[in-house]
Amino acid sequence: MIPKETVDKVIATADIVEVVSDFVNLHRAGVNYKGLCPFHNERTPSFTVSPAKQFFKCFGCGESGTSVGFVMKHENLTYPEAIRWLAKKYNITVEERELSAEEIAQMKERESITVLNTFAQKLFTENLTNTEEGKIVGLSYFKKRGFTDETIHKFQLGYSLDARTYLLDKAVEKGHQPEMLEKAGLVIEKQPDALTKIISSKQKYFDRFRARVMFPIHSLSGNVIAFGGRTLKQDKTLAKYLNSPETTVYHKRNSLYGIYFAKNEIVKQNKCFLVEGYTDVISFHQKGVTNTVASSGTSLTEEQIRIIRRFTRNLTLIFDGDNAGIKAAIRGVDLVLQEDMNVRIVVLPPEDDPDTFAQKNSTADLKEYIEKNETDFIIFKINLFSQDIQNDPIKKSAVLKEIVKSISVIPDQIKRDSYIKETSVLMNIKEEILFSEVSKEIKNYSQQINNVSEASSEVSKRTPDIPTFVEETSLPEEEQLVYFLLRFGKNLMNMQAHSKLTVADYIIQEIESEKGFKNIIFQKIFEEYQSLILSNQEIDAKYFMNHQDDLIRETTTRILSKEQPLSKIWERNGNQIEKPDDTYSQDVHKTIIAFKLRLIHIYLENNNKKLQDSNLDDDTIKSIMNQSKEAQKVQQQLMEIGGKRNIYLF
Ligand code: CTP
Ligand code: MN
Repeated sequence: MIPKETVDKVIATADIVEVVSDFVNLHRAGVNYKGLCPFHNERTPSFTVSPAKQFFKCFGCGESGTSVGFVMKHENLTYPEAIRWLAKKYNITVEERELSAEEIAQMKERESITVLNTFAQKLFTENLTNTEEGKIVGLSYFKKRGFTDETIHKFQLGYSLDARTYLLDKAVEKGHQPEMLEKAGLVIEKQPDALTKIISSKQKYFDRFRARVMFPIHSLSGNVIAFGGRTLKQDKTLAKYLNSPETTVYHKRNSLYGIYFAKNEIVKQNKCFLVEGYTDVISFHQKGVTNTVASSGTSLTEEQIRIIRRFTRNLTLIFDGDNAGIKAAIRGVDLVLQEDMNVRIVVLPPEDDPDTFAQKNSTADLKEYIEKNETDFIIFKINLFSQDIQNDPIKKSAVLKEIVKSISVIPDQIKRDSYIKETSVLMNIKEEILFSEVSKEIKNYSQQINNVSEASSEVSKRTPDIPTFVEETSLPEEEQLVYFLLRFGKNLMNMQAHSKLTVADYIIQEIESEKGFKNIIFQKIFEEYQSLILSNQEIDAKYFMNHQDDLIRETTTRILSKEQPLSKIWERNGNQIEKPDDTYSQDVHKTIIAFKLRLIHIYLENNNKKLQDSNLDDDTIKSIMNQSKEAQKVQQQLMEIGGKRNIYLF
């Protein structure tokens, strides 16, 4: 534990601008600093740092916090780790305090489980080399599979004896508690039944792993956190692999088999190979391809992708050669694309899995095969389905849908565009059609996978500048947006799973990109709201309704007391659209688009007025007309993002 005084000293010393500047290129913007957010993919800066408030906030993804929070998030550290990290940066000595009894108790279960897992791993390894059964059954099996002594040693492979309480007995002998062995997943508690009289606690339990070759699963830092055990019996009623249950130290969703042995090489190669199982990883490593991990039988989870992403953005999935398996396996890949990773696919010959393929080939041949067969995921997907779609327009459109789905989850627009071009050639479909399909998909909220904010800010970047209007200006969308800000500001924009983006964040980001509200009172409210967020304060509409500025007080009171025409938005469209339960996100988004369209509309009108002046020279006329043309393009895109039918000007 770090003493409180040291923590306070670190917090007082670690200046937010300095700390963030180690990772983000910041530039001054008024009293704040701005830069590209390191926590999500963006091309216009919405990451804002307030030196006065010692706080950062990204209006593009909703992430926010202090210096410590920034380091925790950016470097993937716990709170005390982040404090130590900052202490080191500022040369502050950290003298650790003794743990309190309570803290010890808290850590005890994790520690005990880790101790027991290490104990079990050593026992399984001993069994393999020091017992007759282990040697004859276990070791000879590994040898038969082509694993060398070095490999067996590196992966700490072992064997669990064919006995009911072998591990249990050994552990109890050493003074370990059966209850804790159960918590570690190493023994199973017998279900009590009326006929069995349970005498001692020891007899309640039996070994989970019996007569299996054992594969310890290591954490990122190399601790054994769980086991997989493969049966060598032909008995079809036994599961081929038996794995540890979820425990306080093992969560299947966020562990990757082999990551401890692979992580350095993944960084070095800037690439990670993903295979399916334990033996696949081991055989690849034995052949020297050590940047390989496995998801262990499940489809890849978001947590696993995030772990890999800490080390590299390049992920290559290696599939067995059977076609049906591949089609099932690629279903989860959109998840990886969504994290902005580059995904490639290698398909092995039909008779092989990664393990057998690595075993029968030399290192050079293995590497060469991968290099030659590595295909970009989307191209791979098109090729995979292209046999199905020859001369079958219905199938072709189904496949197209799949491809469009994969392209539209990619956060980076440049990448998306280049995929559209490739797809257009490969599938012989006009680029424009693909563009429009992709943007349709992007605006499809029910999928909750697209980053609306980014799509729309990409457009707004291209919105022509519109001069700020006088204070009398009152655009209906502005009032509507201020209402949303005050009423739903703290609510999450539920456009994207797991996003922290609030309604206020979203409105602020979009309105900033339009250089603020045009009405001066609205703009004042907007600016004050923004600075409250930057000082991490609880914001309540009452704050504005009790404001000392008469105009702000009166305006907010008026807006909030009026029932805003939310439902009217929906009705006006011939009441054809179902009004979902939770419409505020969509209402906010539609109002933003309506606001942008309004600005363009005004801009175009102004241009038309200008053109009526007969004294203009040809060049000026041409340039005004070009500006209008650009604006119309943006108008078109906004309509597409919003869905033509659903856009209204109030
Ligand atoms: N798996 C599992 N439980 C099962 C079957 C499989 O957890 N009942 C996981 C294991 O991580 C296994 C992976 O899925 O390594 C792949 O399964 P499979 O292809 O059946 O096994 P292989 O790795 O090929 O193992 P072997 O070559 O020993 O049959
Ligand atoms: Mn196999």
